Amino acid sequence: MTLEEKIGQMNQISSYGNLEEMSRLIKKGEVGSILNEIDPVRVNALQRLAIEESRLGIPLLIARDVIHGFKTIFPIPLGQAASFNPQIAEDGARVAAIEATSVGVRWTFAPMIDISRDARWGRIAESCGEDTYLTSVMGAAMIKGFQGDSLNDPTSMLACAKHFVGYGAAEGGRDYNSTHITERELRNVYLPPFEAATKQGAATFMTSFNDNDGIPSSGNPFILKTVLRNEWGFKGFVVSDWASIKEMVNHGFCADDKDAAMKAVNAGVDMEMVSYTYMNNLKDLIKEGKVSEKAIDDAVRNILRIKFRMGLFDKPYINEKATSVMYTPENLAKAKEAAVQSAILLKNDKNTLPINASVRTIAVVGPMADAPYEQMGTWTFDGEKTKTQTPLQALKQFYGDKVKIIYEPALAFTRDKNTANIAKAVNAAANADLVLAFVGEEAILSGEAHSLADLHLKGAQTTLIEALAKAGKPLVTIVMAGRPLTIEKETQLSNSVLYSFHPGTMGGPAIADLLFGKSVPSGKTPVTFPKEVGQIPIYYNHNNTGRPASRHETLLDSIPVEAGQTSLGCTSFYLDAGFDPLFPFGYGLSYTTFQYSNLKISSKEFVPKDEITVTFDLKNTGNSEGTEVAQLYVRDKVGSVVRPVKELKRFTRVTLKPGETKNVSFKLPVEELAFWNIDMNRVVEPGEFTLWVGTNSQEGISVDFKVKD
Ligand code: BGC
Repeated sequence: MTLEEKIGQMNQISSYGNLEEMSRLIKKGEVGSILNEIDPVRVNALQRLAIEESRLGIPLLIARDVIHGFKTIFPIPLGQAASFNPQIAEDGARVAAIEATSVGVRWTFAPMIDISRDARWGRIAESCGEDTYLTSVMGAAMIKGFQGDSLNDPTSMLACAKHFVGYGAAEGGRDYNSTHITERELRNVYLPPFEAATKQGAATFMTSFNDNDGIPSSGNPFILKTVLRNEWGFKGFVVSDWASIKEMVNHGFCADDKDAAMKAVNAGVDMEMVSYTYMNNLKDLIKEGKVSEKAIDDAVRNILRIKFRMGLFDKPYINEKATSVMYTPENLAKAKEAAVQSAILLKNDKNTLPINASVRTIAVVGPMADAPYEQMGTWTFDGEKTKTQTPLQALKQFYGDKVKIIYEPALAFTRDKNTANIAKAVNAAANADLVLAFVGEEAILSGEAHSLADLHLKGAQTTLIEALAKAGKPLVTIVMAGRPLTIEKETQLSNSVLYSFHPGTMGGPAIADLLFGKSVPSGKTPVTFPKEVGQIPIYYNHNNTGRPASRHETLLDSIPVEAGQTSLGCTSFYLDAGFDPLFPFGYGLSYTTFQYSNLKISSKEFVPKDEITVTFDLKNTGNSEGTEVAQLYVRDKVGSVVRPVKELKRFTRVTLKPGETKNVSFKLPVEELAFWNIDMNRVVEPGEFTLWVGTNSQEGISVDFKVKD
């Protein structure tokens, strides 16, 4: 390969409307990958240019952000994470891969496995939430689904573990902002999902936009070389994020494009997304001795190795005439099941849900009841709203023979401030036996660059809920959103609250079945729900502080006038919001109830090479069949550095008939209690531990054990 041809492989361009300019570059061997080309005829035409008209005939890699579905849209990743079911994530990714590869897309920029502890950050929607273990498991499942059994299969799509690394910790939740994560925090919290991705065989990694501790990821050899290549042995290739190499000039980390190209390639970024600093500068940098030819060879080898493993050289073209694989009944069924398992029942006073037979008339209100585009959520370039089934449509279609439905949206969209039609919705409520209020966020309010400083419902949605509550009929609020919203007031005003992170194409039928009890809610919060935005960052696996809240603190309205300075107790909480969140991590109700008992562990003392067996009885103590996500948490009581109050280590979904008891068992290698300690070594430190099993991160039954050297 000539130097130009090598640099060409490291160049990813975005598809232009104009084929001519693209053709010229491809024929010269100056393009390794194209993103955002999804027309199968054009994909084949471009591929033919690369194969037949460039000197070396190296096939192109066609990429697209296929994040939670290509045509059949699954719940946003945060919703999928709420299922606590890796099979849901794997199925969603497989369906996405089957659909997208049929038009020639063989590389997706997913999964996003950024730990997200800040709901202001719009990209929390694309994440698996706040927990390292849950994110590791769900991310690996997505990679398995995208890549299939072998990269060589024509329905396999390369996964891309992103954004490497720390992007979710953006200061203030403002997208692209700097992060200040220490190496220990990076290793204990942010890196493990990426290590799991490497173990799962993720073919590619993407660098993140943020600078951490002043170093932009696209110029950070510590994460790309020391950790990714040397410690983890990653054999795939690394792509920059969109123009993130060039943007190192904006950061103030590089003097100009040439400096940026030098720092990125020397740090270990193999392919540049769209900003041409490699194309324009690498040759000179090599001549000047600032970049070695070996660095280029390594990058090109990493890229070509993947192209070979994909079988692209043998089978570069797709069958333009193949029968469509989009929106097949199987794909839609999987998307519906994902939406069912993703929904979280946050409140259900007096069993308002499921809707019982005495309910004859239902008022369906709110801007999200029939918003086919909005319920698909962020990152749905290719999903079509005409194929989306909304709750209103599904209620009419599947339950219209059982109940009369009065539809009064009241607000045209979620930011609508016009209260003129609220009276009509209240009137509908007055004439109904039960009210279903569909509120939330439009798709555009979450996702990339869509951060918020205020997480209350937008527009006049709260006014609508207040007015409906006054109507005196049972009020069920269904929230469809891209993030946890601060809905304390709306929760108080509602009899039941069902939370569905943007549920995708089949959200309507899924929600309708849940409301009528054909399906039973089983989702759990993959992220802590704050009461107020000022509590953020709020996450369950925090450190304890020296003055933990007692949870009996005096709050604002109870503080006497002229109270003495130290009279309130001096613990760690907010005078106006207390300590606890609105809903803790791992929380979610069912239409039935579960009881945990008889917790046993295989020994009271272990050594690091042991495996702990944990068993307990889980009983369905209610009247309907239901599925519980049983969770196992551990606390390492004393460490050479402070350890979190709890850490999720295992979870499983258990389905039980009324009255049924199952003995559930978890196996936990002691090795998984390791953490990066005071000497920055990953070790299990001997000492005392507490282990809980329970229904969420705040409740459970516990047992203590010891680890010895
Ligand atoms: C996003 C990435 C995405 C890329 C390509 C960027 O702006 O941060 O997540 O994969 O664009 O579309």
